[in-house]
Order: sequence, then C-alpha cells, then structure tokens
Amino acid sequence: MVKLNRRQFIFLGAAGAGTTLVGNWLGKETISSQSLLQSSANLAPVHKSSDGLLELDLEARESPINLSGRQAYLLTYNGQIPAPRLEAKPGDKVRIHFTNNLSQPTNLHYHGLHIPPTGTADNVFLRINPGEKFNYEFDIAQNQAAGTFWYHPHLHGLVAEQLFGGLAGLFIVRGEEDEIPEIKAAQEEFLVLQDFSIDERGKLLSSMHMSLMMGREGDVITVNGQVNPSFSLPAGGLLRLRILNASTSRFYRLTLEEHSFYQIAIDGNALNEPIEVRELLLTPGQRADVLVKGDKQPGQYRLLNLPYDRGSMGMMGGRGMMGGRGMMGGRGMMGGRGMMGRNNRDLPIALATVNYESSVESLPLPTKLASISALPEPVTVRRFELNHGMSPAVGMAFLINGEPYSGDWRSQPPSEDRLQTQVKLDTVEDWEITNTGVMDHPFHIHVNSFQVISRNGQPESLPAWRDTVLVRRGETVRIRIWFRDFAGQTVYHCHILDHEDLGMMGNLMINA
Ligand code: C2O
Ligand code: CU
Ligand code: CU
Repeated sequence: MVKLNRRQFIFLGAAGAGTTLVGNWLGKETISSQSLLQSSANLAPVHKSSDGLLELDLEARESPINLSGRQAYLLTYNGQIPAPRLEAKPGDKVRIHFTNNLSQPTNLHYHGLHIPPTGTADNVFLRINPGEKFNYEFDIAQNQAAGTFWYHPHLHGLVAEQLFGGLAGLFIVRGEEDEIPEIKAAQEEFLVLQDFSIDERGKLLSSMHMSLMMGREGDVITVNGQVNPSFSLPAGGLLRLRILNASTSRFYRLTLEEHSFYQIAIDGNALNEPIEVRELLLTPGQRADVLVKGDKQPGQYRLLNLPYDRGSMGMMGGRGMMGGRGMMGGRGMMGGRGMMGRNNRDLPIALATVNYESSVESLPLPTKLASISALPEPVTVRRFELNHGMSPAVGMAFLINGEPYSGDWRSQPPSEDRLQTQVKLDTVEDWEITNTGVMDHPFHIHVNSFQVISRNGQPESLPAWRDTVLVRRGETVRIRIWFRDFAGQTVYHCHILDHEDLGMMGNLMINA
C-alpha cells in the first residue's frame, strides 16, 4: 500500500478527484503519485508563455492511461488525457517542437485561432509521418481575441480516429476578458469533454467497430479524462467553467441541477454581456464559457448531459449499410448501450459534480464583456448544401454541394489538389448553408470566425463570433465572414469528424 502524503490528501479533498480514482488508489499499489496527479481535475499540466514566448515539446504517442479504473491504451500528447493545456497572450510567439510517435501520419490544427493557414502555423495540409519531427512556429496576433481555443490532429481521413483516441488539448489565449474584475474573481475550471470506447484489453475500438456514418460515439464519457469528477464552488462565489466538446461526434446538452449558466463566451469569443441559459448545447468542436453563481443551498449538484437527437441514418436502410456493428452491450463502464442508443437519446448522465465548499463574500456578475460590431454588407453570397449520398469515386460519402472532399492522407501531397471555394482577402461574404440531409451537421471554418445572420430566414438576435455553427437537418443558416489578415489555403467542414473524413469538407483559398 502506498502512503498518501499530506499534500496528496489535501489534493484529493480540495480538487475533488473522482471516486473511481480513490477506488483505484486503494485497489492498486502500483499507481505512482505522478499518475495520481495527472488524473486530477485541477492539476492537469499547463504550459504558459513567459516573456512573450510559449515553447514546448509535444509528442504524439500511444500511452497507457487509467481510464476510470481500467488500463486503456489511448493516443496522447505527452502521455496526457486531455493533452497539456497551452496558454499564451496576444502578441506572443508560439514554438511547438512536435514529434510524431504514432503509427500513422498526423499533424496539428489550432482550432479557432486567427493565425495563418500556411507554413509552420495552422497548416492542415502538412503530413508528419511516424517518427518525424516538425517545428510549429507562429505569432498570436495582437488582434487575437482572448478565449478558449484548442488543438487536435487534422490529417484528412484520420481525424476522427485520432481524435477518438484522445488527441485534443486546450489552447487558452489570455487577454482583456480575463481582466474584467468579476471574471477575475471567479474560480476558473476547464472541462474537456471526451468519449472513448475500449475493448477488454484496453485497446481502442477500431473504426471497423464504429458506426462511421452516424459518427462514432464512445460509451465512456470523461471530463478531463475522469468519469464524474467534482468541482468546488464557494457559496456566494462564482465558478467560471470553460467547456470544450472535444468528442469526435457526440453532442452535449448540458444542464446543472438547480443552477443557470451565465454564458460569457461562445467558441472562445466573449459575448456583449452574460446571457442566462438553463441548457447549453455543444456540438463537436464548440466551446462555451459560463459563470455559475453559488447562490443555492450548499450541497452537491450534478452537471447532466441531457438526451439530444441529432438524427440518424435509419431512413437509409438500417445499420447494415453503414458498416457499423455497434458495441457489444454492457461491456463499457457506462454500460454499452448499443449503436443506436449511443446517439445520446437515452437518459441523462452525470458528467461531473459541483460541490459547495467554503464561502466567500457574495460576488456580482459582470455586466459588460465586449462590444461586438456588425460586419459590413457582403460582396458575395455563396450557397453550400450539406447532404450524404453516393459518389461515383468513393461510394457512400458525405457531400458539400454534391461533392465529396478529394484526396486523403494516403495521397502525397495530401488534399491540396482541388479548390472548392476561392475568396478574396479582406472581403466580407455571406455563406448560406442548407442541410438537406437526415442528420445534424456542425459546420466549421478555419482561421476566421463568423457571425450568424439568420436561421431559416429568422434574423439571429444574439451577436456573437463563432467558428462552428450547428446546421440542423432541414435548416438553412446564413453566416457572415470577414477573411482578414491571412491569405492562403485552408478548409471548412462538418465537425462530426467521421463526416469530415468521409468527405464533408472543402478547400478554401483566400487569395491575396
Ligand atoms: Cu476542430 Cu478543422 O477542426
Ligand atoms: Cu478548426
Ligand atoms: Cu456532419
């Protein structure tokens, strides 16, 4: 039996490690204090910039991870689930010495950051082969909004599989928003939502066992790599949650028992003022920053994931066609619910628990957060239709305007051969995105964020900058985007990453 030292005891109490962790601790004598610390909700490794430079080594590799009491072999950056959190400020230089020790090629994408899509920055056309190294280097622009961004692999054809293995981490930009006194006074927590499926030997279930057309969902849902961790909220105080949906396909519909969320940012970008919501719908790729007021009876409150129906391929002739065989029932920790059941349509699940601990003098909510100005009228309106169907070249595929994305990781160089969309640098365009399919598709654009103008012709009332917007089945969403600062080629795609890998992506050339 290993001895807990005083600090670890304090940590177990204060950081509220999940009960499963304590269970492990008692059951196994081989867990090092290191792995214990790494499983903590609060002590996840962080790399912060200093003197204007964020520099680190980042290695992608398979690592053994304690996943809710079971040994799992996941895909990690630096052996961590989730990956180390990176923090920088506007104007900082970022240098990431990246090594690929996976068995497949990969690369890095900086989701939501306004940086060049070329060279050693947010270049998703790079292919870093197994055993190779690559130095990413870029500057965070002075005009980069502070917020919650993230990084993950982006080699077309392998994105879903690698993300589902666990490769995802937060990239936080600190700035003005963090200096707002009410926000500064709040207790900050990060929640990275990931789902996994592993077999009896702890190996990741392969793509063959997943319903790719539906978009793979795992039966083990984790927050910061833990099942149902706890977060403390001082009575009277404010809890600032920065929530990232880093799942491949799963949507989260979140609610906190008896509490409202006061949303302060969408996709990392600050809103004009906090808006009170009872529920948050987060599609893959999206982030929400919220404040929670500790104004209820001291106690424990569950952060619940509510059912959400994102559509299904059922109309297309059942599962045979999709090649998904589903999970064997009852095997997973949450009790595998079978392929169709994993579409989040079943019972609410507790993802985390918020405990009132200690108390502080009552803290007010902030009033003014940002001032979002409307974009000028567009020079062009473009239309995009999202659907799936047969493509002569690839068979069943996900399509944008009837075409699947061309090229994938097997081709050299990857994916740059066909241009779906060409725009001019420094212009504003409207994109009207229509979903004529039977499943919801979260539409994401790299490099520049956008504003939603209308949904099904109804003007959008909430001014916000986003990088991913949900286009529900049957819906038309009009967005306005300003292609500013950076020329070069990048992509837009559905952020159900199986759909992206199966073709729902397009190349976007921003011409100088
Ligand atoms: Cu988070 Cu192109 O993706
Ligand atoms: Cu992205
Ligand atoms: Cu999709």
